[in-house]
Amino acid sequence: MFDIDAIRRQFPALQVPAAVYLDSAATAQKPKVVLDAIQSAYQQGHANVHRGNHQLTANATAAFEAARKTVQHFINATFSQEIIWTRGATEALNLIAQSYARPRLQPGDIILVGEMEHHANIVPWQMVAEQTGATIQKIPMSRDCQLDMAAFDALLTDKVKIVAVAHITNVTGTRQPIETLIQKAHEVGAIVVVDGAQGIVHENVDVQALDADFYVFSGHKLFAPTGIGVLYGKKALLDAMPPWHGGGKMVEKVSFSGTTFTGLPGKFEAGTPNISGAVALSTAIQWLSELDRDGAEAHILTLKDKAIAALSSLDDLRFIGLQTHSGVFSFVIDGIHYQDIAMLLDQQNIAVRAGNHCAHPLCDALNIAGTIRVSIALYNTEEDIDKFIAALTKACDLL
Ligand code: ALA
Repeated sequence: MFDIDAIRRQFPALQVPAAVYLDSAATAQKPKVVLDAIQSAYQQGHANVHRGNHQLTANATAAFEAARKTVQHFINATFSQEIIWTRGATEALNLIAQSYARPRLQPGDIILVGEMEHHANIVPWQMVAEQTGATIQKIPMSRDCQLDMAAFDALLTDKVKIVAVAHITNVTGTRQPIETLIQKAHEVGAIVVVDGAQGIVHENVDVQALDADFYVFSGHKLFAPTGIGVLYGKKALLDAMPPWHGGGKMVEKVSFSGTTFTGLPGKFEAGTPNISGAVALSTAIQWLSELDRDGAEAHILTLKDKAIAALSSLDDLRFIGLQTHSGVFSFVIDGIHYQDIAMLLDQQNIAVRAGNHCAHPLCDALNIAGTIRVSIALYNTEEDIDKFIAALTKACDLL
């Protein structure tokens, strides 16, 4: 059973009575078990991994590789070598662009990118398009911020080599029909890159059932530390990709006449990795997996419905996109700048995100400068929503 009081007590950062944190899509607060895991990784047997001959390094390596297996099982990857540690979703997307796409793309090839994407799933493709002569085409979205699947069908030709889309859109929390998209892309021989930064938080992801070619996410939105993320890729694809970063531990033999590289996953993990981050991400996943996740998601959606119902009565408030899929939603208030509202909310200890949320094309398509985004996590309470609504009403009265 999902017990919100018991959950909330596990988050030291949320013990400040006045604070209302509604910005978990930017980064989630951390439960004490995760904070303890970080400390313990440094305090009890800290050593480098895959290097050295002492017991400490053997223990650290075992914990680091066990963490990889935790991620493998969490997303149902076939092999643990399909899990590559990165600094976050952004680095994972850049790795795919530079290591998968760059050697393969040619002038005339097409990369399809969702119009509502976060900049992290646009800019790396623009960079590789410039490097290779490939072209980017956007998959338009509807007014409710869902991919226009009829337009997608029309764009899908055998020139399309890569399709890059978010599982759940970060601005509006809208879930995209990735299953259909993957199936259709595969029919023309394209591969699909799924940005799961928001999706992994709200769903049990099964990469085999999805048949995703690549699925990436960051640890810090999943109750783990910043600076650790995951690139999942199908083994056959990863095996065929050259390394991206060069350095220690990704090589077999280095000489000035040439270098040979190690296999997966090491060839993509040059240098000392974020050992404590990987271990703490594993702890976060274990913590999450022991929860009633369906209960947690139902709790989040109940809070969101409550917020949506209360906001609907505010004058001039317009929701952006659908408000049905996750704990994330966005709105604007006509005639009032989002920064002014966010500032007045902040003065009342309410943390939301205001701006374009690293999604300029989405804002351009909707002809808005930005939104106020509320993101609800499993540790939020009805009282948080009541305080937010009261503070927003006060802000609107003042402005
Ligand atoms: N990508 C994060 C967000 O949407 C930072 O807020």
